[in-house]
Amino acid sequence: MSNYHIKTVEEYHQAYRRSVQDPESFWGEIARENFVWQKPWDTVLNWDFTKPEVSWFEGAQLNITENCIDRHLPTRGDKTAILFEPNDPSEAAQKITYREMYARVCQFANVLRDMEVQKGDRVCIYLPMIPELAISVLACARIGAIHSVVFAGFSATALSTRINDCDCKMVITSDGSFRGNKTIDLKGIVDEALENCDGVEKVLVAKRVHSEVTMKEGRDHWLQPLLDVASEDCIPEVMNAEDPLFILYTSGSTGMPKGMVHSTAGYMVYTAYTFKNVFQYEEEDIYWCTADIGWITGHSYIVYGPLANGATTVIFEGVPTYPDWGRFWQIVEKHKITQFYTAPTAIRALAKQDIGFVEKYDLSSLKVLGTVGEPINEEAWHWYDDNIGKGNSPIVDTWWQTETGGIMISPIPFVTPTIPTFATLPLPGIQPCLMDESGNELTATRASGRLCIKFPWPAMARTIWGNHQRYKNTYFSIFDNKYFTGDGALRDNTGNYRITGRVDDVIIVSGHNLGTAPIEDAVDEHPAVAESAIVGFPHDVKGNALYGYVILKEMGESRDHTNLRKEINQLITERIGPIAKLDKIQFTSGLPKTRSGKIMRRILRKIAAGDSENLGDISTLLNPEVVADIKKNVI
Ligand code: WTA
Repeated sequence: MSNYHIKTVEEYHQAYRRSVQDPESFWGEIARENFVWQKPWDTVLNWDFTKPEVSWFEGAQLNITENCIDRHLPTRGDKTAILFEPNDPSEAAQKITYREMYARVCQFANVLRDMEVQKGDRVCIYLPMIPELAISVLACARIGAIHSVVFAGFSATALSTRINDCDCKMVITSDGSFRGNKTIDLKGIVDEALENCDGVEKVLVAKRVHSEVTMKEGRDHWLQPLLDVASEDCIPEVMNAEDPLFILYTSGSTGMPKGMVHSTAGYMVYTAYTFKNVFQYEEEDIYWCTADIGWITGHSYIVYGPLANGATTVIFEGVPTYPDWGRFWQIVEKHKITQFYTAPTAIRALAKQDIGFVEKYDLSSLKVLGTVGEPINEEAWHWYDDNIGKGNSPIVDTWWQTETGGIMISPIPFVTPTIPTFATLPLPGIQPCLMDESGNELTATRASGRLCIKFPWPAMARTIWGNHQRYKNTYFSIFDNKYFTGDGALRDNTGNYRITGRVDDVIIVSGHNLGTAPIEDAVDEHPAVAESAIVGFPHDVKGNALYGYVILKEMGESRDHTNLRKEINQLITERIGPIAKLDKIQFTSGLPKTRSGKIMRRILRKIAAGDSENLGDISTLLNPEVVADIKKNVI
């Protein structure tokens, strides 16, 4: 067990060294000693980054839900697995024990089997942050169905694209969702999406808001009556180590969102191991991650990682602003939260409010604070450290991605040092490197370049659903024999990493990855728009916000630009979701282009950031004259 839980800096260095020198025995031992397997593996690792093909624990058989639930029953049956905190603070919190989880997951799994969902079938889950979300995820895993959770803030169009891409035969949703003082008509969104999804045979609907919804005869079924008559035992499907566990979509710099495919055994081992160490989870702790299960952070560090460790994990339905800006801290006090994991954008927004919202509550239960999703600036880091951690709770700035499945670079609290704005050191098993633009590895300790990973780790995504070539092109073709992250980073002279941000056309807004291409496509759908280009610009709460340069078909004076801006954002909301709305829209007569017709986003980014003095040489552009015009009219 010593191998599993790192408690001293010597143990960290020892584990790290071993994970590099002998990765197979390192991971083999962790996997053997800390999980239940129906059949052991033949080989720990097979890999070839040129194809790319990676398999971990080949030959093994298991079911991840036995590891997340069944095996805890003898020792933790009455322990709370999920602590549900509703949107409305006056509604009682719910504690679901491991024993109750077992029954509820089995019942749900039996409902899925009754509806002829089989191993390998794809099931789309479009639910708010209610217990049914985690339970349906686990129910899919129980029977070997591949879940594809779509964040319930995405629009009908975004939902239908994701349903069709991986050909889901079922959608699990609810009548609606509560968010702050709003009620959202989720079922209506699903109905609209399904007008374009012929492959969906069944829709299961959980009741949450008790609104009137239309139920389509034969297709739509209320969930609860089916659960009520289902058996509380369900034999888990036997899964091969490399069988897909789930698909989760993430934005690319171009084209369709990418359905990242994660497999079973490696993902389980790695998320459990990193959860234990990065949060230094102990048996009595109450762990809360504020992410939505619709993102990878929720998959790995609300559901699978915590439950595999027999932890108590909080599911919070609401928002940080309701009923007021003290909500997070009220929950910390109420449930005596020990680990609190959130996004820098939330910290920046909370830091702007009256400190009275923090001071009102007793936060002394906290031991570890975490951040994820985007770089954290120094000011926000210190605010978090001083006001929330009171200088006593180390901050784990965790760098990772949907593609990596689990945390890759992070401090280990009380073990390795924290440094403001640095994700610091790679976790055992992770071999990062920095590359220059011509593909050479930067070997000096102190360096700055493109962040790559040289060696496979158990939780890495195995492919993009239906498009292995795109997986290869995006991640394994830019630098030979290395996984390219899309991020830039610098390494200090003691080997600590600081992530500097995306080096591609992905923009991270409030911690959400957005590709520019689909947003531009939405803008271009407006009948008045001829062409558009979208870039990010620094924003003090969101990290980045979106700036749109839009060429109209007719630039006439008569058009009401206020309305036009609203219409454009409305289109974006419909096509993608409100998270992709543009903060600023500048109407322009042209966009700077290279002679081969490529938009020079570098120039647009600088102008949007208010840095239009140092645009470099623009004389080689196809149309250098538009630059002055754009500079003059910047918003
Ligand atoms: C960014 C979220 C700086 C990064 C788990 C990465 C970060 C992208 C950090 C992945 C961090 C994530 N510091 N940047 N601690 N964590 N990022 O797929 O650009 O939603 O490539 O996964 O977020 O976002 P994703």
